[in-house]
Amino acid sequence: MDFLHINQKVWDQKVEDNYIWSQAVSSEEVEKARKGEWQILLTPQKPVPMDWFPETLIGKKVLCLASGGGQQGPLMAATGADVTVYDYCESQLGQDLYVAERDGLKIKTVQGDMRDLAVFEEESFDLIIHPWSNGYVDSVLSVWKEAYRVLKKGGVLLSGFSNPVEYLFDLRSMMEGKLVVRHKLPYSDLTSISKEELQELVLDEGEGICFGHTLEDQIQGQIAAGFVIAGFYEDMGGTALDEYMNGSIATKAIKL
Ligand SMILES: C[S@@+](CC[C@H](N)C(=O)[O-])C[C@H]1O[C@@H](n2cnc3c(N)ncnc32)[C@H](O)[C@@H]1O
Repeated sequence: MDFLHINQKVWDQKVEDNYIWSQAVSSEEVEKARKGEWQILLTPQKPVPMDWFPETLIGKKVLCLASGGGQQGPLMAATGADVTVYDYCESQLGQDLYVAERDGLKIKTVQGDMRDLAVFEEESFDLIIHPWSNGYVDSVLSVWKEAYRVLKKGGVLLSGFSNPVEYLFDLRSMMEGKLVVRHKLPYSDLTSISKEELQELVLDEGEGICFGHTLEDQIQGQIAAGFVIAGFYEDMGGTALDEYMNGSIATKAIKL
């Protein structure tokens, strides 16, 4: 199944539906960011600590990776950074262009798959912002390798992703607030559930096809790519699991 194009269409629809992760920031938020008052998310709720960013973003080359939707990109641009937003869904990129036009910001958008950043030269960015999105691809290792390649030495990669524990549970029961252990990890919507379940519980619900990577691929994958993990926090995940533990993780990684 062509998950890449299915997910692209799912995100087109999410933009139409004004889904939370497709809602562009307001002009007021952009104005505040211009004055130095801003915060961004990598996970559902907790803002990224300010000491995870370089002291100044003025003139810094920032790649917002799989990060369309008019959120992180415009705020980074308003701080004075030179921003490129990269995403597979054109409608999501359209949200960034809409804010740029509305508020007079300079933002470059590039359509592409997060597993392949060949369009960018080696060592071309100072900072990569990678909010929750690698659950939409079958392998996260290529994302880390590519991020490492396009970052300058000393560059920083800020990422948000699911704690794989979220994928242990039966989806239907989880939607009803019950946690019933069912799946082995790593999880894939393509192989861990039946085609009927995929249609009914994922696609008919307007959700994209997802993959639950192992913690080893998420953490050691970054280290193996050459990064040093220099920051870590947990946040809610937005599922029934939140009653028991945080379902999402954010990391700060540095290219030495
Ligand atoms: C949850 S949103 C993340 C961006 C949003 N600004 C946020 O803060 O949550 C997930 C994003 O991943 C993008 N995406 C899904 N599959 C992708 C892929 N293979 N390559 C690049 N982007 C992809 C979607 O189009 C969507 O914009």
